[in-house]
Amino acid sequence: MLQLTSLSDIRQHTERLRQQGKRIGFVPTMGALHDGHLSLIRAANRQNDVTVCSVFVNPAQFNNADDYRLYPRLLGADAEMLEQAGCDVLFAPSPEEMYRHQAKLSFDFGELERVMEGAHRPGHFNGVALVVSKLFHLVKPHQAFFGQKDLQQFAIIRQLVQDLSFDLELVCFPIIREADGLAMSSRNRRLTPAQRAVAPKLYEALQIAQAKLQAAASVEEAKQAAVAFLASFPEMSLEYLEVVDARSLQPVPDLTAGQEVALCLAAFLGEVRLIDNLLLQPQANS
Ligand code: PAF
Repeated sequence: MLQLTSLSDIRQHTERLRQQGKRIGFVPTMGALHDGHLSLIRAANRQNDVTVCSVFVNPAQFNNADDYRLYPRLLGADAEMLEQAGCDVLFAPSPEEMYRHQAKLSFDFGELERVMEGAHRPGHFNGVALVVSKLFHLVKPHQAFFGQKDLQQFAIIRQLVQDLSFDLELVCFPIIREADGLAMSSRNRRLTPAQRAVAPKLYEALQIAQAKLQAAASVEEAKQAAVAFLASFPEMSLEYLEVVDARSLQPVPDLTAGQEVALCLAAFLGEVRLIDNLLLQPQANS
């Protein structure tokens, strides 16, 4: 596996690949890789000639200095995992290399970012859009792979690709979970054993809300049942739990036949903030 750190090297390398007629699959990450990331690498391998993975903890998308400082950085282990998963190129620039000039551009995704993550993490999606745009320009992929766990991020990137006419296909891959249901996340490494033990309750809460909706409860009743369930775990502090349209991400007051909705939440366990979501199959038109 080739490892590159400079913008000019990755730009030249992917340009050469394109000239050779190779299809490039791209998996952008912030490292501390887990099976969720590896499922994206394997999918990229299957559908492309060359797989490029970036590992870059992007300072521009952190609205909390401690979260940035404490974000796990494990480049050596990441490189080994990528090599074993069949990744061809690892691009791991330093923050100084990535942001040689102070970025002035700012993005506004309107309603899409006024809810959930965008509402609770000011500036977060601006930083995501900035770095993803830079990476797309550098790597020039044919396909780019993202995880469904960051559902709102995927919606923002879909909008970014449309608005800036990036010539690539976006692929959203299902959430990979631990055996006990906890959605895989690089932040899970920061949980204490006691926090780790209760963390799967987040997924259980989503399942409770899902079961209520499937049993024809109202959106409010479903949310209340999940919130009440989580309230019995004092280690956990729920930030939001929403039932939203799966594409626009706007809250839905009640389910409409044919509409695909997502149940989304964010919660703190101590200082560690976790998110999760569950897509609900559209109800048949009656
Ligand atoms: O999902 C992530 O890991 C990051 O937000 C991304 C897309 C790599 C941008 O830094």
